[in-house]
Order: sequence, then C-alpha cells, then structure tokens
Amino acid sequence: MTSARIVIDRSAVVAPINRRIFGSFVEHLGRCVYDGIYEPGHPTANEDGFRLDVVELVKELGSSTIRYPGGNFVSGYRWEDSVGPREQRPVRRDLAWHALESNQVGLDEFARWCKLTNSELMMAVNLGTRGIEAALDVLEYANHPSGTALSDLRIANGTEEPHNIRMWCLGNEMDGPWQTGYMTPEDYGKIAARTAQAMKAADKDLELVACGSSSSSMPTFGDWERIVLETAYEHVDYISCHAYYQERKGDLDSYLASSLNMEYFIQTVVATADHVKHKLHSDKTINLSFDEWNIWYLDEHQASDEVNEEWRFAPRQLEDVYSVADAVVLGNLMITLLKNHDRVASASLAQLVNVIAPIMTEPGGEAWRQTTFFPFSVTSRLARGEVLRPRIDVGTYQTAVYGSAPLVDAVATADSESGASAVFLVNRSQTESIEVSIDVTELNATSIGEAVSLHDDDVYAKNTLQDQNRVGLKSLDGATLEDGVLTVTLPPVSWSALALA
Ligand code: AHR
Repeated sequence: MTSARIVIDRSAVVAPINRRIFGSFVEHLGRCVYDGIYEPGHPTANEDGFRLDVVELVKELGSSTIRYPGGNFVSGYRWEDSVGPREQRPVRRDLAWHALESNQVGLDEFARWCKLTNSELMMAVNLGTRGIEAALDVLEYANHPSGTALSDLRIANGTEEPHNIRMWCLGNEMDGPWQTGYMTPEDYGKIAARTAQAMKAADKDLELVACGSSSSSMPTFGDWERIVLETAYEHVDYISCHAYYQERKGDLDSYLASSLNMEYFIQTVVATADHVKHKLHSDKTINLSFDEWNIWYLDEHQASDEVNEEWRFAPRQLEDVYSVADAVVLGNLMITLLKNHDRVASASLAQLVNVIAPIMTEPGGEAWRQTTFFPFSVTSRLARGEVLRPRIDVGTYQTAVYGSAPLVDAVATADSESGASAVFLVNRSQTESIEVSIDVTELNATSIGEAVSLHDDDVYAKNTLQDQNRVGLKSLDGATLEDGVLTVTLPPVSWSALALA
C-alpha cells in the first residue's frame, strides 16, 4: 500500500480561525431565495415565509457570514424595491439571469433570516447601474440607528434596531463582460475608491471588499487587481477572489487536484496586493475575501437553455447535483482556504440553497443534503483555535492540467483553550488506499474523538430527490493513536476528518 508521513508542528501557525472563513452566499438567482429559503405555503414556513427545515440544515452546515443579494443580480438591484409593505413592492426584470424578481424577500426579511440561522449578513452594493448615492442610502437604511429619513423608514417598516452590517462588497465581478455595467479596471478603481471613501465617511469601521478578477482565467487577471488597488488601496480592506471548478472531459485526475489552481490564485493575488502596498509605501495590508468558491458545471449550464428568453419567477437554474468526487474536491478546497487563512480572511461558498448548493429543496416537500454538505459542515464544526500547516511527505501523480500533484493534502487545527485538535485530509488517488502516519506529539492528543470519511465505490454517486441519503459520512475504520502517532488509511478518492482530544 502507498504510504505518507505527516508531521504537525504546533508552532507552524497559519492564523487564528476567523469564522468568516466558513461563509456562504445567497443570491436572488433561480430557486435560492424563492422556493429555497422562502416558501410561504410550506408546512415548516414561519411568519416571514422562511422554511424552518432549511434553517435547521443551514445551522447544521455551520455557515457563518452570508453574502447577499448577489452576485450578478446585484448589478441591477434597487434596494428600495425590497423594503416596505410587501404588497406594494414592484416586480422587476433581473437582466443578469433573465428572470422576474418579485421583491417579496428583501433586506429586512433577509436580515431576520440571518438571525434565525446565526449568520452574519455581508451585503453587496450595486456599482453596475448605480453608484455612490444608492450605496450611501442603503447603508443609512441598514445601519443608522434612527432620526434620519432612511433609518426612520426602516423603523416605520418594522425594524427598530439597525442591522449593523459590517462587511460590504463594492459591486460584483465588474471585470466581466456579462456584468450589467461592467468596467475597465481604471473606471472600477475610481468608483470603488469614491464609494468606499463616502461609505467610510458615514462609518469608518466598515470593512469593504473591492472586486478582484472574476476568475484567474480572465485575460486581465493580475493587471485588474493591480490597477484597481493602485487607485482604491487606502479606501478598501479586501480584494475579492472567485473560483469555480468542474471535472472536464472525464479528466478526474486533474479535477481532483483543483486546489492547486486555488493555491496559485491566492498566491498571485497576495503577491499583487503586496506589490501595490510596497509601491504606495503603505502600512496597510489588503487581505482576500474569497467570496465565491465552489464546484460548478458551468460548461453544461452554458450549453443548456435554462437561461432563456422567457421571463419567469424563480426558474430552476444552476441546480447542480454533486457527486462523491465533487465533495472530495470541495473538501480539498476548504483545506486550501484554511492553509492560506493568514491572507484569506473571509470566504463564501457559492451558493447555499438549490443554486450550486449544498442544500436542495422541493416545493412543498423535503430539504436534503448534497454530498458537498458533509465536508463543509464537518470542517466548520471541528476546525477550532488556530490553523496549523503540516509537513507532508508523500508521492505524486501526473495530471494533464497541473503536471505533478501530491497524492495527499492535509491541514490541522488546534485549540489551546479546549485542547481539541483536528486533522483534515484528502487522498486524490483514484486507485490506491494510502496509509498515513501523522506525528501529532506536539498536539498532546491522547484519544481520537471522531474519525469520519466521505468516499464510495462509485465516485459519481449522488444524493437526489428520489434517493436523498445515498451518500453520507462513513466512519474511518482502523484509525489508531499510539505514542503520539496517528495512523489512518485513506480510501481512494476520499476526504476525511479526525478530531483529537
Ligand atoms: O454564483 C453564481 C454567479 O457566479 C454569481 O452571480 C456571479 O458573481 C458569478 O459569476
């Protein structure tokens, strides 16, 4: 059997864990909001129309910050349409997804939903069709306590306390030709700087995210970040990264190594941000908000007619059904985010319900977990304290896209207060089980509290409407902890987690 050796050095601390690394994303897109989190006629719906069975799954998933209301949707968003008496809210066309928006769920309702799910609301402003004034208005409506026109309007609409939203995205993917109102980096840098300056004049402690490239494959990637930051550096706090992965042309070997691309992406944006920092002689460091990441079978959706000429409310769009292999890749992407947590301060799994999502629903019916739900929820639950970068000694395999890739990837976390620690691992081999011995002496662990794994003889097995529990976590049999050495056997194409006490 192939083997690997890992050493966990308690002093190799990447960063203390900020729960924002476990964020997600709710966009007014397809059935994410309508027939997803919101379905007034559903047997579990509360007085706002939110499905409480979905709320329970969101809590189990353990997502922290929720980015809202888009995505591409935000570039046509008129926040005023979404507040006040529901029967007076207008129906609008959403040009991003060619759908109708009823505005029955708006800012105040969504803020209440965030409270129900124990999440922090992270808001995006529209810099596509709108600008500084609308950004300031929504900020006043959301955050000002009282005594101004818009804060009093919020109160009159039934929300006494301000929402106190700390993190704001300055538009969305403004480099993309598909974006309503897309711009050059020079133009976007200026509007981002000016909007940020004005928003911080209202509240200097806001945390503002400038749009980075919409993917590392954009022709302007790198230059975009540099030019935007050269203009907006002193006004913003984060630069965004977005990345989606999918298996292409049956090349599972390359797909399983997708996190190498995410690692490259992060390192490149960090290098660019730091280059601008030095060029501007700034004391400030810009960190990354990886506020869209996931598996997305984008090629297939683009070839389909799900976004068509019809104007429909909440059509079924982007409803990917995920396999075991997808979940293993997603677990590995989480490992990569944690390993780079010193610079990736915040991240959002895009998205949360029905639309490229870990949670699926049927109208009037059940809600269930996709395969990708499991690595996210277990990592969010077990990762506590500080992230530790392990030393991994393992063989490699050849991939068509990334060249040579390590067979195993891993990250550890340790919490000094509780003494709890955890190790998260993936085996990317399609054929080999790998025996991994992990030197955990420095974690002072004496027992294994939990050992779970996601794998299956059929790497393409999925949970579907008809078979909602086909794939789930399995216990990782045979794990031992003796004399400071944790020994586990990782099945082929697997993601695993071990909690130590
Ligand atoms: O998450 C789906 C879409 O992906 C978002 O609306 C957009 O920002 C990105 O292109």
